[in-house]
Amino acid sequence: MQAYSAESQEILVDVSSEAPHVYHMRLNRPNRRNAITFELWGEMKTVVERLEHEPNCRVIVVSGNGDSFCSGIDLQDGLSNVITTMSNGELDVGRRGIALGRFLQVAQDGFNAIAKCQKPVIAAVHNHCIGVGAELIMACDIRIASQDANFSIKEVDVGLAPDVGALSRMQKIVGNDSWVREMCFTCRNFNAEEALRYGFISRIYPTAKETLDAATQLAKVISEKSPIAVQGTKVNLNYSRDHSDADGQLFVKAWNMGMLQSEDLVESAKAYMAKRKP
Ligand code: ACO
Repeated sequence: MQAYSAESQEILVDVSSEAPHVYHMRLNRPNRRNAITFELWGEMKTVVERLEHEPNCRVIVVSGNGDSFCSGIDLQDGLSNVITTMSNGELDVGRRGIALGRFLQVAQDGFNAIAKCQKPVIAAVHNHCIGVGAELIMACDIRIASQDANFSIKEVDVGLAPDVGALSRMQKIVGNDSWVREMCFTCRNFNAEEALRYGFISRIYPTAKETLDAATQLAKVISEKSPIAVQGTKVNLNYSRDHSDADGQLFVKAWNMGMLQSEDLVESAKAYMAKRKP
């Protein structure tokens, strides 16, 4: 066990025993189905940024302890704070707006830390993946799920626009704008098969355990490749997704020219030639 866990123990971090460069980040509020509070969003940012700077960590797997992956925003200790702040008659409209903006920033920063982390992040989903839980996995690089996984983009039902990543990420992930809009407007549940059919996830496994094992194996395969090449690939995929082809190619050229000065590149090439792991 590493010293990265939040003090509250609501996010646990451990290193995979069979894959020494694979770090597990586990949501750990099982008695609330891993509902997310603003404190947890803040802790997530801290934990992910620490893992990004941990040299031994090459790939991160995100999962949820207990019966569900994540039941969305914590209705008692998250959404209720927003409601209390927004109904505070002592604050004028402008100050309420600023307070709401602060809440949203903390939430966005928590998931953006995952999206921006140069190391690949794999989401292993089981059972409920609701609201901001679904937005959490949209910040990850790879999403896999168990047969019992069920998803919903639930925000409209609680009076919010999905503002922690879904509206900026889901169309790019799925590519079927009509289906994305249907899910966001109706908030209806969709199961693992439907998620797979539309490209929201990439694989289904029979059970939660098999999903987590598969995520660990996938992470292990990636962790045995050149770290700098993998991280460069993530940074460039993200950049190219958000820019034109021409800009993407200029960016990757500049990245590779920078990489040429890295000893890691030489080590990776030597390892490949010698048929050993870098
Ligand atoms: N926030 C706070 N507590 C929660 C949440 C949540 N999002 N989800 C579950 N819990 C708590 C329950 O209150 C319950 O607590 P208790 O044991 O003290 O009564 C415990 O977790 C277990 O929940 P159950 O409802 O008993 O479990 P069940 O398996 O029957 O149902 C389910 C799970 C479907 C996730 C259900 O709890 C639920 O619908 N939760 C709310 C989901 C939701 O609307 N989230 C907000 C989405 S919008 C957004 O994220 C912006």
